[in-house]
Amino acid sequence: MIRSVVRGVGHYLPERVVPNAWFTSFLDTSDEWIVSRSGIERRHFAAEGQTTSDLAIRAATAALTDAGLQADDIDAIIVATSTPDLTFPATATIVQAGLGMTRGFAFDVQAVCAGFIYGLANADALIVSGQARRVLVIGAETFSRIMNWEDRGTCVLFGDGAGALILERDEGTGTAADRGILATELQSDGRHREILQVSGGVSSSGTTGHLMMAGKEVFRHAVEKLAQATVDVMAKAGVTTDQIDRVVPHQANIRIITRTAQKLGVPMDRVVVTVADHGNTSAASIPLAMSVAHQRGELAPGDLVVTEAIGGGLAWGAVVLRW
Ligand code: ACO
Repeated sequence: MIRSVVRGVGHYLPERVVPNAWFTSFLDTSDEWIVSRSGIERRHFAAEGQTTSDLAIRAATAALTDAGLQADDIDAIIVATSTPDLTFPATATIVQAGLGMTRGFAFDVQAVCAGFIYGLANADALIVSGQARRVLVIGAETFSRIMNWEDRGTCVLFGDGAGALILERDEGTGTAADRGILATELQSDGRHREILQVSGGVSSSGTTGHLMMAGKEVFRHAVEKLAQATVDVMAKAGVTTDQIDRVVPHQANIRIITRTAQKLGVPMDRVVVTVADHGNTSAASIPLAMSVAHQRGELAPGDLVVTEAIGGGLAWGAVVLRW
């Protein structure tokens, strides 16, 4: 049985680190409020002129180095982003050129904070169907560009960054003992699109727009839907909660992360948490967390991992993989 196995991982964070105290110079907020409601202590913001593809190229280069591969060893690039450099072409093609890759194909997926999960599922489908042998999946965002700096309920929560994972075709036995992706679960429900959206776009306002969120409603959907997607994907993979070595959740908010872990009965010492340092980096948050966990020695070959995310759409999903 064909499996998509992790061959390399990497990330990049822009140099500028912005602590919570920065917001108190122009907003009625406090470090205490931000930490207690979200768990966020700081985030990185891209420099002026630094684009999503710039961050993605750095993360991809780190993943290629980790894998011991060259750009032309890759067959396909998928970039998950809601903050592309341009309306078109796809940011993935800009990354392809930036890496010096002269073959294969590249495209973007847009599922907001769930984008990396959607990217993984698509990469797995390309590999399993024989259309690609190695796929570079990148989550990259510059959410600082779509913040409303007068909305204290949202602008304190997000950050910029990029993470990348290389999946490679391998032969497995068809059991949960295999390395690689064991199951994927994708869902969306467009009826809830207005609780988390951006106020502009090409064919509506002709502007980029700013992020708007009904925080409490998003919170409620997030805990319920992430827990259910995780239960569903574990059932598909034929594994149980007690077998999971690591949960790598979307890093939106420590309260969503802990409530979801509680609902699943997973102790927090098995959950990768980076939200304090990165904020919510949307589609970049999971590969960033995976790369940091890999560096910290929290992810080792053979570990059974479940990863889950939810974002605007609403769109959500989960993946079980053996690292
Ligand atoms: N500083 C100080 N006070 C604030 C701030 C702030 N930065 N932001 C909001 N407040 C105030 C509000 O104005 C309100 O004041 P009021 O009672 O005088 O009207 C009060 O705090 C409570 O506001 P709520 O919005 O009800 O606060 P809540 O406890 O729900 O926390 C939060 C807000 C953190 C956004 C929460 O709803 C949440 O975590 N939601 C999940 C959303 C999320 O993480 N989304 C990420 C994107 S989606 C995703 O990635 C899954």
